[in-house]
Amino acid sequence: MRLLFCGDVVGRAGRKVLLEKLPELRAELALDAVIVNAENAAGGFGITPALCEEFLAGGCDLITTGNHVFDQREIIGHMDREPRIIRPLNMVPGTPGRGGAEVRLVNGRKLVVVQVIGRLFMGAYDDPFRALEGELARHALGATAHAIVVDVHAEATSEKMALAHLADGRASAVIGTHTHVPTADAWILPGGTAYVTDVGMTGDYDSVIGMNKAVSLQRFRSHVPGPRNTPALGEATLCAVYLEIDDRTGLAGRIEPLRLGGRLAAASGPISRPR
Ligand SMILES: [Fe+2]
Ligand SMILES: [Fe+2]
Repeated sequence: MRLLFCGDVVGRAGRKVLLEKLPELRAELALDAVIVNAENAAGGFGITPALCEEFLAGGCDLITTGNHVFDQREIIGHMDREPRIIRPLNMVPGTPGRGGAEVRLVNGRKLVVVQVIGRLFMGAYDDPFRALEGELARHALGATAHAIVVDVHAEATSEKMALAHLADGRASAVIGTHTHVPTADAWILPGGTAYVTDVGMTGDYDSVIGMNKAVSLQRFRSHVPGPRNTPALGEATLCAVYLEIDDRTGLAGRIEPLRLGGRLAAASGPISRPR
């Protein structure tokens, strides 16, 4: 199974590069499915039902979110109607939407996608370790699911790494999101689970994590509330990881970071896409 996981799409610039590049990437990499974190797609804050549909029509198979999931109120009811968008599993019971989804692929293959959210520097969520443990126990990798991808949405690198080790050998990949900064540690854990601490954002890197840099600076330097912050609108970089999963075992054979377009790709030199 060949998968692409794209990091947090921030605002219009992020949406543009994602929807521009996805058709060619799907063909070039012969992708079976594309997973996109879109918690910042709508002006940096959440996602609307209309944007959700635009992503699904534009080549995404499954959308993950995070702490910003409900920033746009219209999405609240939509979460229960549209199974192709998920939110963190370990939100309190009764929260609209689902923490996981199954994607049916050609040849009857089944891809399971789960999202958990961390607690360190994040807020009062339920235990992500217990939630992930429970979800992994529902599936047998290579038997009831051909692949299992976990989106670990967290601030602390340590918490993400610990969650990945919990899942090692029982998930195909554990992909970190939320910090909007790509880490250089994409590798395959001893048990066969592909891992990266953060896949990075899909947005304009001439910014502070995707948002206007002048407004962000002012907010750090002053107690006086400034203008509402908005996404940076320069040319965006698509940050993703490309994954190859063994259809028989469900374990990872390859994880490769990918950076396309914008300033970050320009700074990455010639090795900016899988060979
Ligand atoms: Fe984000
Ligand atoms: Fe987040």
